[in-house]
Amino acid sequence: VNIYQFQQDLLNWYDTNKRDLPWREDQDPYKIWVSEIMLQQTKVDTVIPYFHRFITKFPTLHDLAEADQQDVLKVWEGLGYYSRARNLQNAVKEVVAAYGGEVPHTPKDLGSLKGVGPYTKGAILSIAYNQPEPAVDGNVMRVLARVLKIEDDIAKPSAKKQFENYVRELISQDDPSSFNQGIMELGALICTPKTPMCMFCPVQQHCKAFAEGIEEELPIKSKA
Ligand code: ADE
Repeated sequence: VNIYQFQQDLLNWYDTNKRDLPWREDQDPYKIWVSEIMLQQTKVDTVIPYFHRFITKFPTLHDLAEADQQDVLKVWEGLGYYSRARNLQNAVKEVVAAYGGEVPHTPKDLGSLKGVGPYTKGAILSIAYNQPEPAVDGNVMRVLARVLKIEDDIAKPSAKKQFENYVRELISQDDPSSFNQGIMELGALICTPKTPMCMFCPVQQHCKAFAEGIEEELPIKSKA
C-alpha cells in the first residue's frame, strides 16, 4: 500500500461523502465522548435522537457532572447498557475534580477514566484533539483486514493490538480526525460485512482482498 496515496484517496472521499451527523458539528471533546459511548453498542440511526436529547438536557460537561443520576438514566432510557451512562457520569465528575473540567489530552489520563477503553480513548484523542491515535472497532478491523489482507482471527483479544499498530503506520499525521472517521465511514457505507460495494470504494486500488477477490472471506472471525 502506498500510504500517502491511500490517505489522500480516503480523505478526499470522506470529505465529500461523510454523513451529516450531529456529533460532527464541532470538535467539543465532551460531545465526541458522549457520542462514542452511545455508538459502542448501538447503531447510528438509533443514537441520533438520543444524542440530541442528551446534549439538550446536558449541554456541557459541567451540566452532566452536576446532574442527578436518575435524570441521566432517564434520558438514556431505551438505549440499554445503563452502566455506560453511570460510568460516563462518574468519569465526567472525575474530569471536573481532577482536571478542572477539561477532558484530558493524554492517553494515560484519558484511559484512567471509568468506561474509557482503548477505542473511546483513541476516538476522543483523534476526533476532538487531532492526535494520531488509533481508534479500532469492528468496522475498522474489517476495512483494514481487507485492504491489507490480514488473516488473524479478529475475535482474539490480541488482534486489536495488531490493528492498532497497523493504524499507527497508516494514519494521516495531518488529519487524524478525518482519517479515523473516514475508515469508520467506509466500513459503515461501502466496506460492509456482507456484499461490500467495492465498485464504489475510494481505496479499491489499494485493497489486497479486492485484488484477489476474497473480500467476502475477510475478516476471519471465530465463533467461540
Ligand atoms: N461509529 C463509531 N464512532 C462513529 C463516528 N464517530 N461516526 C460514525 N459512526 C461511528
